[in-house]
This record gives sequence, structure tokens and C-alpha cells, in this order.
Amino acid sequence: MGLFKWFFVLLAFHLFTAAPAASSNPEELAQITLDFLNLAKEPELVDYMVNIRRRIHEYPELAFEEFETSKLIRTELDRLGIPYKHPVAITGVVGYVGTGRPPFVALRADMDALAIQEGREWEHKSKVPGKMHACGHDAHVAMLLGAAKILQEHCHDLQGTVVLVFQPAEEGGGGAKHIVDAGVLENVDAIFGIHVSPLYPIGTVASRSGPTLAGSGFFEAVISGKGGHAAIPQNTIDPVVAASNVIVSLQHLVSREADPLDSQVVTVAKFEGGGAFNAIPDSVTIGGTFRAFSKESLERLKKRIEEVITKQASVQRCTATVNFNPDKKTFYPVTVNNEDLHKHFLDVAADMLGSQNIIEKPLSMGAEDFAFYAEVIPGYFFSLGMKNSTLGSLASGHSPDYRLNEDVLPYGAALHVSLATRYLQNYRPESKSSYKISHDEL
Ligand SMILES: *[C@@H]1O[C@H](CO)[C@@H](O)[C@H](O)[C@H]1NC(C)=O
Ligand SMILES: [Zn+2]
Ligand SMILES: [Zn+2]
Repeated sequence: MGLFKWFFVLLAFHLFTAAPAASSNPEELAQITLDFLNLAKEPELVDYMVNIRRRIHEYPELAFEEFETSKLIRTELDRLGIPYKHPVAITGVVGYVGTGRPPFVALRADMDALAIQEGREWEHKSKVPGKMHACGHDAHVAMLLGAAKILQEHCHDLQGTVVLVFQPAEEGGGGAKHIVDAGVLENVDAIFGIHVSPLYPIGTVASRSGPTLAGSGFFEAVISGKGGHAAIPQNTIDPVVAASNVIVSLQHLVSREADPLDSQVVTVAKFEGGGAFNAIPDSVTIGGTFRAFSKESLERLKKRIEEVITKQASVQRCTATVNFNPDKKTFYPVTVNNEDLHKHFLDVAADMLGSQNIIEKPLSMGAEDFAFYAEVIPGYFFSLGMKNSTLGSLASGHSPDYRLNEDVLPYGAALHVSLATRYLQNYRPESKSSYKISHDEL
């Protein structure tokens, strides 16, 4: 290569890497971020989000059955003039705001409810018996539609495209995996996800860098013997005693085989067998979940759970089969927050809420299917506080008494908007290629 060519290569390299971190100065950025919160707190937008949230709350739909919720989302996107893809993963909707060109940054909301009967009487109580939004996914949809409205109003300022991901089946169905498999994240550079939390005060956020939520798996085992009269055990093969020994043996996987410094859980939560006081049943079904913070630990637990169940059952002359996808529940990987996105999040949250309102979230053995996104592209998942002591304490997620503090909605919408717009603004092509290089090297 001639000297002349080298000069251009070096010049190009210099221009690429020496570009300023952002076109706006820090005070301007902070002001824009605060402005987004004020916009989200405008009564008209709050009413819009509250209304959507209540409509979804009244008609909760379970995993992969979010047909009406999906229709509601599409109607709103149509009204806003936002193009979208549908169906993605059965009920999923993926909207696009901005230039339609790279860079692409995604924001995620989950749509599904739980098979729980709402316990509390109130004006917008679930109208579907046995189904309830008890995890706040109704609020997640409302916040992302609120964000969509703000983003669309500012679409000419966007320096790229915001991808709005409304996904099905977070609660055990692994909807995120289906979204990934549908190719929605191809060319997407980063993804953010919010979960409302009754643990943290309203106006605060909680998160951490690196592994943040455990990976999880589920198991169900049928332990079979031979039923008979409870007073003549010698003519039976008792699966109740065998299952009891299996459960005790499973407790040793964490206490005796795992590194005490590597957090893991094995819980048997389900035990079904027999019905009479004087009859030994033919079989017993047990089921539960296992959690860990690394792929290796999860795989080891899975292998050992199967071994312990089948071999321990055989000690009592029973046979056992183990199913790791009971009720269509799927394996969830560990949720890992990208380090660069953590820095980005800290900047945005400090400008919007003040750094004193950012909480370092402790590790949790809970799991989230957001992990599937963060496995394939840089991802970032955080908790958004909604506790307000003057309103009384809030029940935990998945409780029949779960209550959403609707004051949380503008915070979620504003954080979505700010995280995405500032991500696009700060985007540097070389940061993406460095992700690629490090991925290839690993
Ligand atoms: C907490 O609730 C009270 C009563 O509704 C309200 O006046 C106050 O603004 C709320 N606090 C926050 C931070 O939203
Ligand atoms: Zn949940
Ligand atoms: Zn949830």
C-alpha cells in the first residue's frame, strides 16, 4: 500500500475514534432527559397510560393468548402512525420509530398475565375469573405505548431507529426466545427492559452490572410403584416413600455438591399422590425449579436432578421419568446486564432522577426471559420502584393482592424514551465493532 493510501486509512481511523462522545454538552443532555420526564408527567399522557393499563388489567390474557392485548397495542400504534410487524411469535408486535435506518435500539414490554384470581375489589378489577395481571405487565405495555407516543412526537430528532418490542409469554413460556428466533433482533445494537417493583420507592431505579437474575429450569417427575392396601404394604411398591427419599436427596445437590459461594437453589414445590387414607397410590408426581448464576451450574443441576430422581427412586424399587419442560415451561438463561449499558443507564438515571435515587440491586434468584435477548445482543434490565409509603405497602409480584401504583407510569415512559434517544445519540460505530471483536475472540 502506498504512503498516500496509508494516510487516508489513518485519517479515517482518527475520525472514527476521536469523535466526541456526544454532540450535546452534559447540561443540555441532562435538561433534555428531565424534559422527557416532565412530558411524561403531562396529565394528558398520564391519563393515556392509565387508561391503557386499566383496560389491559380488566382483560388479562395468559402466555401466547394475548390476542386482545396485542390488538389494543396495534390499534394504538396505528393511531400514532407507527409501523409494526405482526404477528411475531403468535401475539407479539414489533414497532419502529425513527429514521428506519441503523443504529437500532430496542425497548421491551411483556404482555402476559398470570393464572391467579384477583383478590382485591376495585373499580378495574380483572373481569376474567382466575386470571390477573399480578406482575405489572399491564403497566409495562402502557409505559411502552406512552414512550412510543413521545418518541413519535420527536421522531425527526431521532438519530436512528427505536424498535418497540411487545412480547408474549414472559411468565414461563419464554416468549423472548421466540422473538429472538423470529429474527427481530438482527441488526439491533442494544435492548432495554423495565420491570416495576414494589420493593423500591417511587422515583428510584435499582439495577446492577453483570449477572443480575438467576437462570432457571423446571422439572416434573412421575415416580411409579404399585398401589395397594395401606395395611398390606408388602404387596405394594410404595411411591410415596420413594418420592419422599427423592426429595430429601435432592436437597443435597446444593448443600453438598455446589460451591457454597456459588448461589444455587433446588426447590420441590409440588407433591401430588394418593387421595385415600388407606390406599397406597400407583404413582406420585413431584415438581419444582432449580436456579443458578452460571450455565455450568445450571447444567450440572439439571443432570444431577435427573440422576438423583431416577436412581433414588430405584432404591425403593420404583421407576421414575423426569420432564424438564412441564406445562410448556422453558429453561431461562442467567440475565446478564452489559457493562457499557450499565454506565449509560447510570448517566441517564442520574440526570432524570438524581444519583441518590439509583439503588445497587442485590442479586436475586428470580429469573426473567429478558435473559434471552441479553444472550444475543447487549441488554440491560432494571427495576423501577413504585412503593409509596403514604399509599400503604404493596403486595409482592404474583400475589392475589398485587396492586400497581399508577404513579410509576410516567417514570417508565420517560426512562424508555431517554435510554433509547441517548443511546442513538451516543452511538459510535466502533463500539459496535468492538462488541463483535470481543464476541469473536471469546
Ligand atoms: C405518594 O402518594 C401521595 C398520596 O397519593 C402523593 O401525594 C405523593 O405525591 C406520592 N409520592 C410520590 C413520590 O409520588
Ligand atoms: Zn412475573
Ligand atoms: Zn414480570
